[in-house]
Amino acid sequence: MKILIVNGSPRGRFSVTLQSCLYLEKRFPRHSFEYLNVGAGIAAFERDMAPAAAAFARAELVIFAYPVYTFLVPSQLHRFVELMKEHKLAVKNQFVTQLSTSMHFYDMTAHRFLDENFRDMGMRPIKGLSAGMEDLLGEHGRRELEDFLEYAVFCAENGIWDKDIPARAAVEPPVYECSLEPCKKQEGFDTVIVGDLREGDESLRALIKDFGAAYPYKTRFVNLADFAFKGGCLGCLNCAMSGSCVYKDGFETLLRDSIQSADAIVYAFTLRDHSMGARFKMFDDRQFCNGHRTTAEGKPFAYICLGDCAQEENLMTVLRARADVGHSFLAGVASDAESIRDVTARLAWALEHKYNPPRSFYGVGGMKIFRDLIWVMRGMMREDHRFYRKHGLYDFPQRRWPRMLGMGLLGAVMRSKRLRRLVGGRMNEGMLAPYKKVLDEM
Ligand SMILES: Cc1cc2nc3c(=O)[nH]c(=O)nc-3n(C[C@H](O)[C@H](O)[C@H](O)COP(=O)(O)O)c2cc1C
Repeated sequence: MKILIVNGSPRGRFSVTLQSCLYLEKRFPRHSFEYLNVGAGIAAFERDMAPAAAAFARAELVIFAYPVYTFLVPSQLHRFVELMKEHKLAVKNQFVTQLSTSMHFYDMTAHRFLDENFRDMGMRPIKGLSAGMEDLLGEHGRRELEDFLEYAVFCAENGIWDKDIPARAAVEPPVYECSLEPCKKQEGFDTVIVGDLREGDESLRALIKDFGAAYPYKTRFVNLADFAFKGGCLGCLNCAMSGSCVYKDGFETLLRDSIQSADAIVYAFTLRDHSMGARFKMFDDRQFCNGHRTTAEGKPFAYICLGDCAQEENLMTVLRARADVGHSFLAGVASDAESIRDVTARLAWALEHKYNPPRSFYGVGGMKIFRDLIWVMRGMMREDHRFYRKHGLYDFPQRRWPRMLGMGLLGAVMRSKRLRRLVGGRMNEGMLAPYKKVLDEM
């Protein structure tokens, strides 16, 4: 079978994910492999998509191979998907699958994002493989990788693909016109709106204007479309070692002095391709210069979205999870006059009351992955390590001795039939005793 590997890693031939593809090529000599270097070579595809179109036309199975980057795919691969759509690449009915490597931190949202875009283009997606970064180094991981390829080839050869998610027709962003009167502004809080506002984005401009009108505090605007990014994150990890990015385009100053310094942050974007667009993704990826540190913890934030974000289950998961991992209150997504009123009111209230509810599974689970990762890599990720130690984020091994002792005693008691009968009836009472104490002491 003719297999096309779309290498979405910005690390190009130094990509860890690519090594899995090279392994498959050696392991299955009966298949032919061709490579399209889109992660590191995105600039060339911006100029000319013809080589990509030709490579897709030759392929019987396409594999998007990439690292998971900040909940989704790297901005360069995201841009390539945009280019595929802009150039209307003839990929209808083409069998496609994906192979990612990551630390399994929101790998499923990355897969779903690509899957949704494959379906938009009429491709036939086959369930992909989300491998751990080091899986190829072990026998078990190699077996899983081989099984994955055999499964994908079997599906493509037999015309089987995943039809369980219906493709949604692409919807043009709605037209929005200003309708809200500016309210009286109060002093006290600095709120920044970070937007990707391009020429001609009049509806998004109007939405942002109405948000500012309904919000009781003054806002500042940072337009990502005006910022001269030197490029997307290269995954070089220079920032992890030296604390600063290899690009010298002023991004870190913009991030720290104009965005993270605010009391509340609002992101404004037009819904495109089930996401916030490749430019916003570039902004997200470049924030890797903060490592895995929750630098905006406690600062409430919100989104302004031109488009029906509520219908985008995967994107909503990403937005909620980002807030949760960062431990910030998400005031909501404003996309029309009614939701603007709700979101601005919630954001202002959260600021005034320092409201920050506890993390849910999205954040608690995510932070445990980070915790383990930083602990293992602490020799290199010095800044992260310092931050995790300072904020007590290394919560292992659990040292809750009284609780553990209590559980040990209870286990010993429950092993005896006689004692079990005696204590069994008092379990509920025992469990509630500490809670009752709190209530009694009130
Ligand atoms: C900017 C950046 C963002 C990342 N975001 C995630 C993430 O959200 N989830 C995750 O599990 N790993 C994340 N990683 C780790 C990479 O997915 C992982 O190291 C991957 O194996 C690198 O593959 P590559 O060498 O093919 O680029 C990130 C790495 C970088 C540099």
